[in-house]
Amino acid sequence: MRVLSLLAILPFVSAKLLLNYNASAGDAASILGRQNLEGWNGAAWPKGQAQNASAFFTTAKDPNGIPAAHVHKGAHFARSEYHMLLGQTAASQTYYIGYRVSFGAGADYQSCPIVFQWKNFDSATVDKDNIPALLVFRQGSSADKYIIDFAAQADPSADQNISQKTLWTKELTHGTIYQFGIVINTAKSGFVQLYFNGRLSTLVNPSTKEHTTKYAGNFFPGQTEPKVGLYGGQATNACDSYIYNVAIGTALADIAAVAGI
Ligand SMILES: *[C@@H]1O[C@H](CO)[C@@H](O)[C@H](O)[C@H]1NC(C)=O
Ligand SMILES: *[C@@H]1O[C@H](CO)[C@@H](O)[C@H](O)[C@H]1NC(C)=O
Ligand SMILES: *[C@@H]1O[C@H](CO)[C@@H](O)[C@H](O)[C@H]1NC(C)=O
Repeated sequence: MRVLSLLAILPFVSAKLLLNYNASAGDAASILGRQNLEGWNGAAWPKGQAQNASAFFTTAKDPNGIPAAHVHKGAHFARSEYHMLLGQTAASQTYYIGYRVSFGAGADYQSCPIVFQWKNFDSATVDKDNIPALLVFRQGSSADKYIIDFAAQADPSADQNISQKTLWTKELTHGTIYQFGIVINTAKSGFVQLYFNGRLSTLVNPSTKEHTTKYAGNFFPGQTEPKVGLYGGQATNACDSYIYNVAIGTALADIAAVAGI
């Protein structure tokens, strides 16, 4: 019996993760990497100052008492994030990013648009391709709902500062836990994919309108690394999210549990 059950879980425990944050295991949020906070109305966060009630990202509990990293930013604070895999990504790889999260009530889309970014840190290309892939909020059809878009920029030389196009969109409910699996291939002819609640999503090519589960492009315009939390928006409301797990690996099996696959 014991041998059988061990064998059954072996394929999952043997995978080597690049990053694994599990709030239920009591992991500190700092496991995610480097904390990024921004001050009042775009001011820099004072060097060496710890997080405070205006902006924090810390392992705690969600409103239902489930262990989660509580991510918060107050009105006029634009950033409460963790920068992950600093200096650890490379070209011609495939990264699998599992993200289990819920979004707090009152999180209006103008105050906290971006909840995941695959962010370019290469100064030579950042002006034309700032965020090659992201998850971003839009306004929902009622107060308890919001729309989340998976958007990406396939061509790093596109002649605009921000030219991500929406590939997938879904109306979601505040307070419900969702599982995302974001796949990013960093080859010059690379691709992105999205798993939502364990299922591979159909993406719509923004120019051809073709349906695909693998959207082709160059999503590695230079050193590009993932960030989670809340970013964007300056004014109006505060917002909160609750992150239960983040797993990053180099095979789909690495994120199967977190992404619900
Ligand atoms: C997170 O930790 C809890 C408690 O140790 C465990 O039951 C659960 O399986 C872990 N989840 C993942 C995805 O590793
Ligand atoms: C937190 O620190 C920021 C940056 O110094 C400051 O603007 C803000 O007022 C502080 N918030 C609280 C609640 O102390
Ligand atoms: C594009 O970026 C340039 C340089 O960073 C900036 O001067 C310009 O205002 C930006 N344009 C838009 C539409 O944001």
